[in-house]
Amino acid sequence: MATPHNKAEKGHIAETVLMPGDPLRAKFIADTYLENVVKFNDVRNMLGYTGLYKGTRVSAMGSGMGIPSIAIYTEELCKFHDVKKIIRVGSCGAFQDYLKVFDIVIAMSACTDSAFNDRRFQGATYAPTADFQLVRKAYEAAVNKGIEPYVGTILATDLFYGIEGEDIPWKLWAKYGVLAVEMESAALYTIAARYGIQALTLLTVSDSLVSKQETTPEERERSFHAMMEIALDII
Ligand code: HPA
Repeated sequence: MATPHNKAEKGHIAETVLMPGDPLRAKFIADTYLENVVKFNDVRNMLGYTGLYKGTRVSAMGSGMGIPSIAIYTEELCKFHDVKKIIRVGSCGAFQDYLKVFDIVIAMSACTDSAFNDRRFQGATYAPTADFQLVRKAYEAAVNKGIEPYVGTILATDLFYGIEGEDIPWKLWAKYGVLAVEMESAALYTIAARYGIQALTLLTVSDSLVSKQETTPEERERSFHAMMEIALDII
């Protein structure tokens, strides 16, 4: 069913959706990895494509940045398009000194500073958690490629630029073992649980809040391939 955000009709979207934040990354996934590609959405330029990967039907669609954006798109995928598996492929900022740029993080769970679940659970704390089978398969796929991924909890923040020029209190999160920061997974895992579907976030470290190291857009594009190969292995 078409919505104000996604003009796809029932059947246009595969049961498995790869979801980068950037819609042009969804186009890149379709152009690079998929065959027989059909574009199903361009509303708000939130590009979505369905094609075949080694004979398996799969879609790629952008989520946009932040919890409200990914929440709208994923809830509609679950509710109107019978999507059964969503794999977010994104970037993150490292909170731990042992995490270096281009390392891969498998987000087993997602803390958040967002009010998204406060409203839903009326002040009680829900623990947004990835699907265990996807965590296990992603870990094994990475190790088979000679990559040792970091598996643990991350922070999904609403505050990319911090508050009044100060960083978000990342050292506190770091003390409690949080690996890295992004802006979407707490909503993805919550909505996936609500609809009984599988979800996982794979992240490449694009910058470090500890060392202040950053990466260029070209470097990020190259590092994206390793993460994508893991994602495609587990669809
Ligand atoms: N903050 C939030 N999201 C991010 C970051 C960050 O530093 N790096 C990559 N995604």
